[in-house]
Amino acid sequence: MKSMPLKDPRSPLAPPRHAVIVSSALTFALAALGVALAALSMLYFGRGGAHPPADMRVGRLPVMGYNTWNAYHCDINETVLLETASLIKSLGLADVGYDYVNVDDCYSEKKRNDNGDIVADPTRFPHGMKWLTDHIHSLGLKAGIYSDAGWFTCALYPGSFQNEERDAKLFREEWGFDLLKYDNCAVPFDEISRENIIGRYVRMSDAIATQAKASGQPPLLLSLCEWGNQQPWLWAKRIGQSWRTTGDIGPNWNSVADIINKNSFISWASDFYGHGDLDMLEVGNGDLTFEEAKAHFTAWAFMKSPLLIGTHLADASTETLSILKNTEIIAINQDPVVGTAITPFRWGAGPQWTSNSTHPAQYWSGESENGTVFMLLNVLDEPADLFFNLTESPWIRSGRQYSVRDLWAHTDNGTAARNISVPAVPAHGVVALLLQDAGDEPEGIEPKCSVLEWCIDKNGTLIR
Ligand code: GLA
Repeated sequence: MKSMPLKDPRSPLAPPRHAVIVSSALTFALAALGVALAALSMLYFGRGGAHPPADMRVGRLPVMGYNTWNAYHCDINETVLLETASLIKSLGLADVGYDYVNVDDCYSEKKRNDNGDIVADPTRFPHGMKWLTDHIHSLGLKAGIYSDAGWFTCALYPGSFQNEERDAKLFREEWGFDLLKYDNCAVPFDEISRENIIGRYVRMSDAIATQAKASGQPPLLLSLCEWGNQQPWLWAKRIGQSWRTTGDIGPNWNSVADIINKNSFISWASDFYGHGDLDMLEVGNGDLTFEEAKAHFTAWAFMKSPLLIGTHLADASTETLSILKNTEIIAINQDPVVGTAITPFRWGAGPQWTSNSTHPAQYWSGESENGTVFMLLNVLDEPADLFFNLTESPWIRSGRQYSVRDLWAHTDNGTAARNISVPAVPAHGVVALLLQDAGDEPEGIEPKCSVLEWCIDKNGTLIR
């Protein structure tokens, strides 16, 4: 391509008059554009769009770690946290990626102090929060804390509304936390807030950005918890790094199935730096069978949810630990190359493949660094044979064969062409497979097309 001369060589001195007019009009237009862009960016950043510089961004991958709520509810103290942190190390959970230890609700006094600060409960946390996070950090782990976008938390401890900057500073600088879970209870009256939910959460994300900028520290990772009430999958990635998609989980299959069903429609929204949070894990808790717990863990991991352990680690069974430490499942959740989640390619077991809260989608697939990942769920209360055509998934090429890795059995199961059938999947059980392209399918497979609809020979003969 030819380069243009910078100046018109015929007018080395003053430019002609029309050029002056054009150039001042241009300058004016550019200035106006600049002002408009600045205003737009203020508007945008004012709605929580302020991302720190690339090397300071946090939460690219889903958070892995521990949260106190499911196992302890309000019954927490410094001993629980310290024991949990050392078990995360000694049980090898840190080695497979669990590196956050998060304090949930009920850690503080019921009232702020005279300066207006939240005060850690001196009975539960006699050494204070800085001492706690120092200890957690000394183990090579990170620490999370909890607050609320309203006047109070869900257990009626102080929330952060109208104290966002003060609290962000306290949590990050004085107490040394790395993550903030931000709940949505006890919100102010409309006449006080005059905002929507986005605005109330932006107050904290702006406070976090301000604190990070002033201190030069990486920002607190912000984990939104408004239970999916106002479609956070549409807006929360501008504000934080994860958003709860659904209500509180319970340690039973009905709750897990309901959460899977709801998330089947919105799992597409997750990607690097923004993750749908299906709630903390119940693996090891309540009524969940081994098969159900495996299905629960697989669905959470493959939908790129944060993976926060929520069971008593001191008495966790070998089965529980074998689920939480399945590195082949975790690798999909923590994929450094593909940030997107799996989605269903075929929905439920009902007529016309409909789904509902007890019978969520059964056949799911997604991309990964190392191939196409499949999750098959048996949502029935009895064993079932599961079968699918490979090209039902958009990530599979027709006319190819694929090597099949079973991510729970940890076995290589040869190659598959056209379809896969798995007999006798246990009730509420899961099959997790990783398929890699292994070249052209063997010659002579009939019919000529795996999808017969509108499959046609070059000479115009339809194949049926
Ligand atoms: C809400 C949240 C839970 C937990 C409790 C604490 O219900 O959804 O995850 O944090 O509050 O009170």
